Amino acid sequence: MRFSKILAPLMALPSVLALPEAPKNVTSVGKPLHYAMMVFPGFQALDVYGPLDVIGSQVLMLNQPLHLSILSRTLAPVTTVPQKSPTMNMTHGNFGTQIMPTTTFKKVLAGKKDKEKGDIDVLLVPGGAATRGDMTEEIEFVKTMYPKVKYVLSICTGATILARAGILDGRNATTNKRAWAWATSTGPRVNWIPTARWVDAGNIWTSSGVSAGIDLTFAFVEHLYGKEVADYTSINLEYPRWPGGPSNDPFAAVWELEKVGVATATVTGRLVECSLSLGL
Ligand SMILES: *[C@@H]1O[C@H](CO)[C@@H](O)[C@H](O)[C@H]1NC(C)=O
Ligand SMILES: *[C@@H]1O[C@H](CO)[C@@H](O)[C@H](O)[C@H]1NC(C)=O
Ligand SMILES: *[C@@H]1O[C@H](CO)[C@@H](O)[C@H](O)[C@H]1NC(C)=O
Repeated sequence: MRFSKILAPLMALPSVLALPEAPKNVTSVGKPLHYAMMVFPGFQALDVYGPLDVIGSQVLMLNQPLHLSILSRTLAPVTTVPQKSPTMNMTHGNFGTQIMPTTTFKKVLAGKKDKEKGDIDVLLVPGGAATRGDMTEEIEFVKTMYPKVKYVLSICTGATILARAGILDGRNATTNKRAWAWATSTGPRVNWIPTARWVDAGNIWTSSGVSAGIDLTFAFVEHLYGKEVADYTSINLEYPRWPGGPSNDPFAAVWELEKVGVATATVTGRLVECSLSLGL
């Protein structure tokens, strides 16, 4: 009795109680079809798999297939475990997993492409502890590819690769909030936005740390295909979309970015220490 009283008003609203239906045969004419995710040893797993699952969930709704390339320096499996380097001591033990690249930077730069996939439309760049190591090849690749792709999306400290490639100069961007001091120092001419879950700067989208890449990708899907497709994807993945939009960023306050400022201006010891020891 009690429940039926509560439910009665809702029953009058079929749209509330109807089961969600996937939008069908959504046109992807003129939209990006070929996504390429860059990986390097020590990439952050969620930076890669979060966005890929959001993008991959579109395929049944679209009227053309999407393609995915995994790009790396070589075709050897690429581990999430950060490697020791002069700029980064390994602090993560051996806990990790591997991904198989489908092509290499060199092959793509030499114009070798898979007929079915065609040119790369969207280049995705993850972050991770490894971004503090030698990223020369990744930076060169982004610099060369930027004029050839429709969009570049970065997750977490992946923005430092974009910044060092010079493609963020004069643009708005964001990055990991714990690693803010170091990350922003890689792009002194970038307009770094401290309080941002993600930033849409036209053909370059950047996100805050790790899981923020998922929220950025939902926003990107909405930009391409509309809210209905993005919302259905969020239901499908049982992942609530980030409330309050891109400027709702509690982590800027957690890391006291108003005190830190941009780049190395007024870096607090605590922030530097945390970002170096945790390495993101
Ligand atoms: C899907 O949409 C395209 C146009 O975008 C249309 O030509 C085609 O007939 C549609 N297919 C189905 C099965 O509805
Ligand atoms: C890495 O460890 C070595 C030896 O403990 C130390 O000399 C060096 O300063 C460390 N480097 C960094 C970037 O922490
Ligand atoms: C860049 O960010 C500033 C806030 O710092 C905002 O006022 C401006 O509209 C943004 N520019 C673009 C092109 O989004």
